[in-house]
Amino acid sequence: MKSTSVKLADFKDSIFGVISRLAREHQAVNLGQGFPDFDGPDFMKDLVTKKMKEGHNQYAPFHGTPSLRTEVSNYYKSFYQLDYDPETQVSITVGATEAIYLVITALTNPGDEIVVLEPFYDSYVASIKMSGGVPVPVTMHAPDFHVDKAELEKAITPRTKMIILNNPHNPSGKVWTREELQMVCDIAEKNDLYILSDEVYEFLVFDEARHIPTATFAGMKERTITVSSAGKTFGLTGWKIGWICANPEISRVCRLVHQYVTFAVSTPMQEAVAEGLKKLPEYLPGFVSLYKGKRDFFYAEMKKLGFEFASPKGTYFMMVPISKKTNLNDVDYAMKLIKERKVATVPPSAFYLKSTEGAKFLRFCFAKKEETLTQAIANLSPEA
Ligand SMILES: Cc1ncc(COP(=O)(O)O)c(C=O)c1O
Repeated sequence: MKSTSVKLADFKDSIFGVISRLAREHQAVNLGQGFPDFDGPDFMKDLVTKKMKEGHNQYAPFHGTPSLRTEVSNYYKSFYQLDYDPETQVSITVGATEAIYLVITALTNPGDEIVVLEPFYDSYVASIKMSGGVPVPVTMHAPDFHVDKAELEKAITPRTKMIILNNPHNPSGKVWTREELQMVCDIAEKNDLYILSDEVYEFLVFDEARHIPTATFAGMKERTITVSSAGKTFGLTGWKIGWICANPEISRVCRLVHQYVTFAVSTPMQEAVAEGLKKLPEYLPGFVSLYKGKRDFFYAEMKKLGFEFASPKGTYFMMVPISKKTNLNDVDYAMKLIKERKVATVPPSAFYLKSTEGAKFLRFCFAKKEETLTQAIANLSPEA
């Protein structure tokens, strides 16, 4: 038989699938899976039922229902003073993952270089490779996961098209500061680059940290493509409703790709998310305090167990340094914890192309029920 596409030659099963399978086999508490093990809010579930009953059940317009595009546009305006025309600058996708694929496919020519800041969400590199582009890694250095300006500048060549930035950042939980973002924006502007700004955790920000969308920086709205997702904001990752906010030309080409990959996104889910977005001001305080409570509890318990690190300011992940606990690398230690301690985590070296820094950490997801987190801590404690 003839061979399959060479573009996929170095693709492997994602680390998440491998860890989840092992977690099941060993009946481990799963803090590897990057999503809540509890349900999203009832009002959203009621809304989707209502929308189905009202008859919103046929194909939606291919770039998204007018109501959802309008509500996305409204919240960018009210939260960030950003103006996006729902007709030409907002497009609805099957989660942020499709959005990322569309943006990369729409902008990448074979041989184009795209800077990825490692550790990265794994779909970036896969999408770049599927488009024939070349991922160019620049490391975010622990413990604060900062990007070195000289290293970023050195990575830029005449072939560079785009920088992919994730803020708040999975897996480190970092929330970028204004100064850090300004540095990346300056480099993008100087070299005429796009920024794909993955902001799916935009509302999961704690303490004094504030989320600043890349598009709000002077001169950046035109060259920034912002991606976000209702899955994280409403704790309903299975709904898979995401969006792209971009200038009209980039939106147009992203929609062209979307038209042939997905065509249309689930209609009742879009209608429910549109209603949900109207309720953000009332909904968000409770949402943030729920996750902050989980972060505070899990962080305090991990400190008691002797893990030394700073509390993450955003997302629902912690990058926990392991070198004081073991001489093993992240993959071997993750396997050991699954088998011997019945706790599953994600070894983050899979999120790096260049640096070996990932081998010194494990990623824990704290978006879990109290009993799940308590059980994980009990399993990890020395007496267990
Ligand atoms: C940084 C980041 N971007 C994008 C996504 C994908 O979001 P969605 O479920 O909306 O496709 C995730 C999911 O974990 C993520 O962590």
